[in-house]
Amino acid sequence: MRDRLLAMAKRRGFIWPAFDIYGGLRGFYDYGPLGSELKRNIINLWRKYYVLGEGFAEIDSPNLSPEDVFRASGHLDKFKDLMTVCTSCGAAFRADKLVKTENADSLSADELWEEMKREGVKCPECGGELTKPEPFNLMFGTHIGPKGKGERAGYLRPETAQAMFMDFQYLYRYFREKLPFGAVQIGKGFRNEISPRQGLIRLREFNMAEAEIFFDPEEKDWPGFEKVSDENVRLIPNTGGELLMSIGEAVQKGIIRSRALSYFLGITKKFLLDAGIDEGKLRFREHLRDEMAHYADDCWDAEVLLSYGWVEVVGIADRTDYDLSRHMEYSGENLKALRKYPETREIEVTEVIPDYGKLGPLFKKDAKKVAEALISLGPDIAGDITVSADGKEYTVPESAYRVEKVKKKVSGEEFIPHVIEPSYGIDRILYAVLEHNYKEVIDDGETYRILSLPARIAPIKAGVFPLMAKEGMDKKAMEIYEMLRNEGINAFYDHSGSIGRRYARMDEIGTPFCITVDYQTLEDDTVTMRNREDKRQERIPVKEIAKKIADRIDGGIL
Ligand code: GLY
Repeated sequence: MRDRLLAMAKRRGFIWPAFDIYGGLRGFYDYGPLGSELKRNIINLWRKYYVLGEGFAEIDSPNLSPEDVFRASGHLDKFKDLMTVCTSCGAAFRADKLVKTENADSLSADELWEEMKREGVKCPECGGELTKPEPFNLMFGTHIGPKGKGERAGYLRPETAQAMFMDFQYLYRYFREKLPFGAVQIGKGFRNEISPRQGLIRLREFNMAEAEIFFDPEEKDWPGFEKVSDENVRLIPNTGGELLMSIGEAVQKGIIRSRALSYFLGITKKFLLDAGIDEGKLRFREHLRDEMAHYADDCWDAEVLLSYGWVEVVGIADRTDYDLSRHMEYSGENLKALRKYPETREIEVTEVIPDYGKLGPLFKKDAKKVAEALISLGPDIAGDITVSADGKEYTVPESAYRVEKVKKKVSGEEFIPHVIEPSYGIDRILYAVLEHNYKEVIDDGETYRILSLPARIAPIKAGVFPLMAKEGMDKKAMEIYEMLRNEGINAFYDHSGSIGRRYARMDEIGTPFCITVDYQTLEDDTVTMRNREDKRQERIPVKEIAKKIADRIDGGIL
């Protein structure tokens, strides 16, 4: 079935192998005209949930980042898979994919090596001997700027998330310094996968939609939680077993630890079903402790059942204050938020108070810098003190500062926000939507293919046909085709072959409606509108076509 679906997807212009005339390259695909439209519609649905529905802010940042970013984020040290190489043919593999053990991706290099030896694993390509697994960093590295002084090491981003952390100060101000708030980004991610073999499921350049939601960890309630608390979900917690229960119950029983995280599990379920994922083939699985990404303290994957088995399509991670803390440490910037007190409080603090009258004559134009460096040392100082600022050292005499208790009015306390991150793999979702909606029906010995895509994400919303391309029916159908496009409804005009064949061509690519212009149209300006799912036809006035289709596309999303 998968081969036939992929053949259809290629023939009809959903997915094409990239660089095909040069033999293609694993892990890279092109979306053809229908695939691009389908992808855009899935992304627009995602925006409806996250930007319009949640009120989150979308940003758009570079694909390429300087090395400092990934040193801080931990990707430089930790974003690695274990690779084994064939000593005969040189082919490289992800070692965890070659052993039979469950959750092999949580094994260390030594454990994997033991397991490979125990199972007698050989090269899947030539049967040769394999090397001991070694870590391989999945980021694509490059150089930014010309060779020499201006050159910086850089990497294509493996996730879009980092920009949201680096822009925290801007975002915090944009949201008028109120938490929780969310920022989203939709764009490309890049991972130099060792040996991708699963079509759209494992790409080296892929489309992601990520939200980073910043919140106060002391705030236990979550706004709008009741919107999802009754949603039933299939859960596989990392303590074992499989449960079917509502999100509200899962939080109450402590199965999902964070209310904030559970909220996005509910939103994810709603989104995936709206996109056309089959609810019976959807589950949420919690990562094992040693399976988690380096930045996560908890993570639940939305997994869908495909011909490849259960596949992660969304990861919902509790990134705690990991990323903001790391960027604070590496950049020296303050990425904290203020937890406001109900009323202003007066507190006593011990502070370093520089004596500017003495620092000025001593350090001239550097006096301000020296004072700041002195203050940053905190109140546990005494005697003559050496401070450094901009790489220079200055000795401040004891007489040039005081350490004193002072009373201050404060409106709140600073803290580092925590982050929940729902991260969606758009290509995987698109592929899963194709698999879950592709059907073959044998009728009169002929195979008909139907793609039961929800109207809102179908690439073409309406086929427009003249019953026959003559006597003005073609002209009228062309007018309707243009009218629909002007209304923003993607339509397709077709006058070749029998009406049955034209319906079949539209069914195959998931078009929900077909409009036929016949003799009666020329008399009373009505057409037949045929519905893909039940094949029923209704007679409607031409002026109602656009509204009827638009209602079906947008209705009932949120
Ligand atoms: N930002 C989530 C991920 O990299 O998978």
